[in-house]
Amino acid sequence: MLLQDSEQAIAQAYREYDAYIHQQSVLAKRLQRGDVRSTYRSVDTRKGIAEGIEHNTQFIKTIQAQLAPYVKIEKLVATRESNELSYLSNFDYIRRDWSGQDGAEKEIDTICRTIGNLAELHDTDRNCAVFLGSGTARIAWELKTKFRLCFSLDNSITMVSMFAELRQRDVPLYEINYTNVLHEGNNSVPYTASLRKSSEPATGFMHFAGDARHQPFANHSVSTVFSVYFTDLLPLRILMPELKRILKPGGVFIHFGPLHYHFQDIEDMLTADEVKAAFESEGFEIVSEDLLPLSHHYSEIALNTKSYRNWIFAARKKVQAPLALSMETVLNLHQGIRYTSGGSISADKGDETSGYQITLPSGEVFSGSELILEIARRVDGQKTLAEIANDIEQEFDFQIEDKNELLNLVTTLTAGGVFRI
Ligand SMILES: C[S@@+](CC[C@H](N)C(=O)[O-])C[C@H]1O[C@@H](n2cnc3c(N)ncnc32)[C@H](O)[C@@H]1O
Repeated sequence: MLLQDSEQAIAQAYREYDAYIHQQSVLAKRLQRGDVRSTYRSVDTRKGIAEGIEHNTQFIKTIQAQLAPYVKIEKLVATRESNELSYLSNFDYIRRDWSGQDGAEKEIDTICRTIGNLAELHDTDRNCAVFLGSGTARIAWELKTKFRLCFSLDNSITMVSMFAELRQRDVPLYEINYTNVLHEGNNSVPYTASLRKSSEPATGFMHFAGDARHQPFANHSVSTVFSVYFTDLLPLRILMPELKRILKPGGVFIHFGPLHYHFQDIEDMLTADEVKAAFESEGFEIVSEDLLPLSHHYSEIALNTKSYRNWIFAARKKVQAPLALSMETVLNLHQGIRYTSGGSISADKGDETSGYQITLPSGEVFSGSELILEIARRVDGQKTLAEIANDIEQEFDFQIEDKNELLNLVTTLTAGGVFRI
């Protein structure tokens, strides 16, 4: 689990499961007892729904039991009352992904073919893919073999635990529809969630609890980022720095879905045109765009069908032309840098500094020496790099041995938006 505060997230999920299990068992008992108001409903229908609820709740109980050893009491105390049971009580994702139902399989197939083709076309090395907010992971699971490495992350412990459980066993579940059903008996219909039919090996694949806002990937290490029904979950201004940081030059971002926006601020509810313009202004080129109508979480039973006009686009991070810097180049500060210094004092080792953590405007962080800061302090749009190097050598009475290394460093910082020529 790679959430920022995993212990708190586990405790919060544990508490939400408690609330959910309680709520569902009260409902099931009430249906079993038959003390519901409607005189038009048969005992069998009530029992059928109650059985479905009990099965689904049993699955959540299993997940809760697996979390139990990792729950810290002090974190449990700090949990908040929550009504956010939406992803919990919503078994639509696991049903679409793993029930094998025809309508669901058609949706999966369409999505996988569409975004898989885009990746094949635009990601030339297909070294490493990341699926953001990937739910119960079917789409990532299907496309994993196109890449050497494939990571799938979701910040919902429930989604990730459901997938983990399916790797161990098939799970009997019920599709429960309280509304929009034609026949008695369709309120609660059994199915089996199963990974069985996929015989692909899972080497180089991982589905884990993680946050798209703080991803555990190295700078410039990812060749494709997939965002299926996810871009509208987070404001783009929050997602963008991570995309720019993790994607390698030439890497692609592939979006599939509507722009339904699940947050409040209308300033963040961008049109497709605005999203494209944002990517272009951040150093991407748009390499593909299309619209594709598709049902969403199709159910054979429900009388209503949700359908999206999915917007699909792929944006490639541009490869910067190499900068031609020399010791005679005159630099100015562009957006500057933020830095923190670290160190420790101990009895055996005395006072030790552990260098500087330098954050570039792109969000990229690297460890560096004080030389970077000394250069940043001196650039003024007038001095050449040779003059700055000379100033530093004089002031600190030392020789910068490798001028090529210095040039490489300054080139990286200029490409990263710290300096401008
Ligand atoms: C609309 S669902 C789509 C799931 C999946 N992509 C699919 O198509 O089935 C959005 C998913 O994003 C996850 N999510 C929301 N915010 C997230 C974040 N900050 N980081 C990672 N996942 C997140 C939710 O838990 C949910 O599973």
